[in-house]
Amino acid sequence: MKILVTGGLGFIGTNFIRFWRKKYPQSTIINLDKITYAANPENLNDFSQGSKYQFIKEDIVNPDFTNRLPSLIDLIVHFAAESHVDRSINDPSLFVKTNVLGTYNLLNFAKNNGNIRFHHISTDEVFGSLPLNSSNQFSESTPYDPSSPYSASKAASDHLVRSFGKTFGLPTTITNCSNNYGPYQHPEKFIPRLITNLLENQKIPVYGQGLNFRDWLYVDDHCSAISAVINRGKIGDTYCIGGLYQSTKNIDLVKKIINLMGKDMSQIEYVADRPAHDNYSVDWSKIKNDLGWQPQETLDTGLKKTIEWYQTHQKWWQDSKKEAEKFYKNLAKQSKI
Ligand code: NAD
Ligand code: DAU
Repeated sequence: MKILVTGGLGFIGTNFIRFWRKKYPQSTIINLDKITYAANPENLNDFSQGSKYQFIKEDIVNPDFTNRLPSLIDLIVHFAAESHVDRSINDPSLFVKTNVLGTYNLLNFAKNNGNIRFHHISTDEVFGSLPLNSSNQFSESTPYDPSSPYSASKAASDHLVRSFGKTFGLPTTITNCSNNYGPYQHPEKFIPRLITNLLENQKIPVYGQGLNFRDWLYVDDHCSAISAVINRGKIGDTYCIGGLYQSTKNIDLVKKIINLMGKDMSQIEYVADRPAHDNYSVDWSKIKNDLGWQPQETLDTGLKKTIEWYQTHQKWWQDSKKEAEKFYKNLAKQSKI
């Protein structure tokens, strides 16, 4: 099988390629990535270029990117995206280009090359926000109501994917997943920012009062869910994916990480809230009942593995952390956060 993975040098893409290689060593993986600030070109340095792995540096916004792709691809798994909500508040334009136009270009490629099986990686953020203290959950039938330019661009890409399925018969599936954490996540994101700040004895910035909630999933569990949908999912369907630790308030997660790292609560610093800051929790009973998937990792074991990875990979994150903190400083100056 020949599989095209887009965004394979980012957080989830890197973990997915490692997962897929282990599960299907005979498969050929083509990894297409623009190498934006969010990628680390060294993530898959142990994968040598050859008949089973090929890296292609390309931008999916440029429709000519397809010229360098081999023919006869069996499956596309589309991760490539601008993924950070705070950056989408600062400058939405790139999100529209990559997430909407880029997805459209890739869909066109799939349609024009024999209707390639297309799996689209999306987010629970397309559903909008649950009220604070609510016990409701998002599911496949929840209407779309995105809050940020990021989630609006992902919502648009989901609609395009479904439209190519309905109109052109493209065999598509979509997964809408909650917050991932684990190795290789950029230190601009909450959990790695917390861990790396604590490792550098810096304060931990908590937006608002830390009462917003998320549904956390260890990245390997996301990879196994994607694999289940690729192998057994119903063409045309959408599957919601979530974790075992639902409606986790940010402040409770912060306290857990501080305790696991043996640090002090005085390192918490409450800062201005994110505009349109939303809350999520996902009902993943469809993928459990239909495909037999469920998360394996507990929050404690997943966090311990993640903390250890950041402790032992300081070189990996130090430069990108500097860049991320510069970004946050500028954002604060413009008082967008
Ligand atoms: P990431 O920001 O870590 O990685 C994105 C990757 O896409 C990078 O390697 C980047 O270089 C590449 N990329 C960006 N623009 C590109 C372009 N124009 N052409 C080619 N490559 C490009 O993101 P992530 O956290 O790994 O998320 C991957 C996907 O999963 C995204 O589609 C995101 O919306 C979705 N998702 C993420 C989460 C999460 O918690 N991180 C949860 C649910 C869904
Ligand atoms: O739900 C899935 C989404 O999860 C993905 O689609 C996105 O790509 C991914 O980035 C993530 O979005 P979030 O906005 O939930 O992630 P982030 O890590 O930016 O923030 C998590 C929570 O922590 C959120 O409530 C904001 C808060 N936060 C974040 C940062 C960076 C803080 O309180 N302080 C911080 O410094």
